[in-house]
Amino acid sequence: MLKSEKTGTDLLLAWYRENKRPLPWREDPSPYHVWLSEIMLQQTRIEAVLDYYRRFLQEVPDIAALSSIDDERLMKLWEGLGYYSRARNLKKAAVLIMKDYGGRMPADYESLLALPGIGSYTAGAISSIAFGKRQPAVDGNVLRVLSRMYGDERDISLQKTRNAVRKELLSGVLPLLPDDPALCGDFNQALMELGEVICLPNGAPRCGICPFKGLCLAHTAQRESDFPVKSKAKERKSEERTILLITDEGRLVLCKRPDKGLLAGLYEFVNLKGKLSREETMQWLKDAGLRVLHMEPLPPAKHIFSHIEWHMTGFDVQVEDAGAVSREDLSFVIADRGEAEERYPLPGAYKRYLAYYREQLCADKVDERRIADHGTSGKIT
Ligand code: ADE
Repeated sequence: MLKSEKTGTDLLLAWYRENKRPLPWREDPSPYHVWLSEIMLQQTRIEAVLDYYRRFLQEVPDIAALSSIDDERLMKLWEGLGYYSRARNLKKAAVLIMKDYGGRMPADYESLLALPGIGSYTAGAISSIAFGKRQPAVDGNVLRVLSRMYGDERDISLQKTRNAVRKELLSGVLPLLPDDPALCGDFNQALMELGEVICLPNGAPRCGICPFKGLCLAHTAQRESDFPVKSKAKERKSEERTILLITDEGRLVLCKRPDKGLLAGLYEFVNLKGKLSREETMQWLKDAGLRVLHMEPLPPAKHIFSHIEWHMTGFDVQVEDAGAVSREDLSFVIADRGEAEERYPLPGAYKRYLAYYREQLCADKVDERRIADHGTSGKIT
């Protein structure tokens, strides 16, 4: 190669310097900021993360604060982001960092990898971006870019492909990772960013403006849509659920989910297996010790988790004695008006029904105001 000829690495870094997005964790890439952002960005789009990231840092500004945060408050700050074990592992790792490293995040790949919730990709990202170590960070975006660039037909959904690509970047078999460790953080972010904004999935890459367009085998052969090779994900299980929005003058009956499994330890509206009829629901309410004043159907809603999807229907149930609710198999709390949203972490799966409850509270407030303005016996128009 001529001395003046630009390598793929040079082209990528030059593109990144011109085009990188002003993301908040790039303003001050401290180890804690990089760690938090990388964990939030797993399985979640950048735009969805921005507000969560800012809010989280306002309340939990450093590793010491994270190590001592109340578990329920942590879940509340994570509410709606999904994959809640990510947040629980953040706290577990923070406790270990306080105990074993005097509150300072370790810099090397192996020590990072040993912390809860930190896998190969995240360890590579933190050690390169925050500590300037020569480490690759191979995520799905990076695998897609590289598979197209080198016409690589290995299945990118396999862990062994991910491991092999990481090794090949480190050893130079894939000749892209800079020799200068100080450039590796930018290099990794540039590859991720290229995958997010140019080398898009599902046959829609924007090759015309890609810095790799002259080097990319898939593009040269006009075979962009043949890469990456990816085996089909397992089909999701589908479940019907019946949601009961049980209220007593605005007070709300919530259940705490078990400490293990899907949405562990979070709160939820009463959620029963199957699609219960009105009569079956009435019977369930009676067995739970409740007297029903009014009941009407709720609109249907769907929520998709990684391995399962819920198809929800249900009932808006007004009772006169919410405090009497009891069943051995469920653990209930009664949330006062407004408390449900402020205090109890409710997963995003219930967004539709939370909005319904909120509307109900607002409607009650308007009614109360009308009664105050006109008197209970006055005509309300
Ligand atoms: N996706 C995950 N982490 C990222 C980062 N640091 N920059 C761009 N995209 C990312």
